[in-house]
Amino acid sequence: MSSLVDHFSRATLKAWTIDARSRTLDLVHDLSDDEFRVPVLRTINPFLWEIGHVAYFQEYWILRHAAERASMLPTADSWYDSAKVAHDTRWELPLPSRSGTIDYLEAVRDRVLDRIAGSNLNDRDVYFTLLSIFHEDMHDEAFTITRQTLGYRAPTFAQCETANHSRCLSGPLAGDVTVPGGTYVIGSRTEHGFVFDNEKWAHDVKLPTFRIARAPVTQSEFLSFVEDGGYARRELWGTDSWAWREREHAVHPTYWIRDPDRGWMRRHFDKWVPLETDRPVANISWFEADAYCRWAGRRLPTEFEWEAAAGGISAVPSANLDWTASGCCDVASHPDGDSAFGCRQMIGNVWEWTASDFLPYSGFSEDPYKEYSSPWFGTHKTLRGGAWATRSRLIRVAYRNFYTPDRRDIWAGFRTCTLES
Ligand SMILES: [Fe+2]
Repeated sequence: MSSLVDHFSRATLKAWTIDARSRTLDLVHDLSDDEFRVPVLRTINPFLWEIGHVAYFQEYWILRHAAERASMLPTADSWYDSAKVAHDTRWELPLPSRSGTIDYLEAVRDRVLDRIAGSNLNDRDVYFTLLSIFHEDMHDEAFTITRQTLGYRAPTFAQCETANHSRCLSGPLAGDVTVPGGTYVIGSRTEHGFVFDNEKWAHDVKLPTFRIARAPVTQSEFLSFVEDGGYARRELWGTDSWAWREREHAVHPTYWIRDPDRGWMRRHFDKWVPLETDRPVANISWFEADAYCRWAGRRLPTEFEWEAAAGGISAVPSANLDWTASGCCDVASHPDGDSAFGCRQMIGNVWEWTASDFLPYSGFSEDPYKEYSSPWFGTHKTLRGGAWATRSRLIRVAYRNFYTPDRRDIWAGFRTCTLES
């Protein structure tokens, strides 16, 4: 690992540590105790467990592992270790009360801030401080997803805007760009500072010439597939996809309904809104994305094609991230963040499913947080680019997200591609 102490100042670490914790608290503070009690679902965690887990992870890696201090809560390992505490049991643990849990979140944060301010901050401390911040960022996106899953109110923060302003209402963006065949560098280098184990390391990949859409598939484009009977046409679905479709009785995206009076509507948290024609379709599974591609005579890009097409995007792009729009923007928004090839919003707005299975790059080895990547290789699909609820400090072109192909709760859409003809 390169020198992280040189890469990230104490001021940055302090600001991010404070910001991540206040975002966590902002995402749950307006929920009633009743709303804190959530049903047992495979895709969510109970809020009380999950906020405690975020602080536990931070205490475990920074204070216990790097600084070799004793645990602040003697039974914490049996409650909050996500690798050891089976998912369904998280609803039944004798956890501290809501206020006791929040006291724990604040106490851990304050001890970490003391550590950042201390005189002997080393690379190890910086690594685990960043790991904990990014881990919290991922859970903060998950809290947002949980609120959507359960039909709760949209989260609101002081700095949130809505998607109904001119920067966001920019219309469609049709057409492809051509990415010439050649050798592309995929993955991260040491000089990128903090990277996750699954991005290691940068390596050459040869790609044929291909064409890829400038923008993700919009809601109106996806509606054409729905209205053309796409969900009923067996030939458009692979074997696993069709089995999933049958099991789920899927006939349209999960948060869509067809209202007899108002037409097609989409549920955004606790509100039903008319479909937003030029915004990307989101909350669809990989299976639905793949079926759409077959219907359109296209395919999903591999994650290597995606990363090649995203070349030239700056480290801090103009993008819909950090909840600034409280939802997706039209696909033509944020032209300043285009890739060198002219692809728009590869960073932000919606995660993008790729054709690729989530697999290790050659030479992969686990980083200290061993359960981050390797348990999921081979069973998950890779997504790229981040969504409106993803943090700008976390997302990069080389960042790899991964979910099972059946998930419909993620802010995930897709863009299509095709070989040059
Ligand atoms: Fe976690």
